[in-house]
Amino acid sequence: MRSSVLIIGVAIATPLMGTGCSKQVSYSEDVQQVLNEYCVECHDGKGEGSEVSGLVLTNYANVMTGTRFGQVIVPGDSESSTLYRIISGKVSPKIDMPPTSPESLAVGRGHELKASHIATIQKWIDQGALNN
Ligand code: HEC
Repeated sequence: MRSSVLIIGVAIATPLMGTGCSKQVSYSEDVQQVLNEYCVECHDGKGEGSEVSGLVLTNYANVMTGTRFGQVIVPGDSESSTLYRIISGKVSPKIDMPPTSPESLAVGRGHELKASHIATIQKWIDQGALNN
């Protein structure tokens, strides 16, 4: 009896340690990779995303500068960060980043972010949006 309680305890604790609630997300190793793969094709300073919105996502300084209307990252507060709100679908479905509408996908524009990518970006913002 006693040992089975112990085993259950370990079984619950191990996955929690694995995900490491306090693990620091790295901008250069984690966040920029996602942006490079899913966003930079249009937000590289020349593409349509940066043309229309002014948002360039090629490096930390540009990401923190935001669009021509202002910042899209609020350090420590993902829920107030436009970039997070858009990729997690919390704003108007008309603003769909990266574009995942059938029309966009049909012509090879955009591809859907994985939930894990969205979580990485959320965590990075909530940990202070560091340039690490
Ligand atoms: C296929 C091209 C394309 C891709 C890929 C793309 N975007 Fe965009 N993005 C645009 C266009 C065009 C606009 C301006 C139109 C608009 O605001 O709806 C825009 C605007 C934005 C804005 C500003 C919205 C606002 O109203 O202020 C944000 C933030 C944004 N994109 C984030 C991203 C992120 C993050 C990714 C990657 C996960 C991404 N985009 C991928 C084309 C793209």
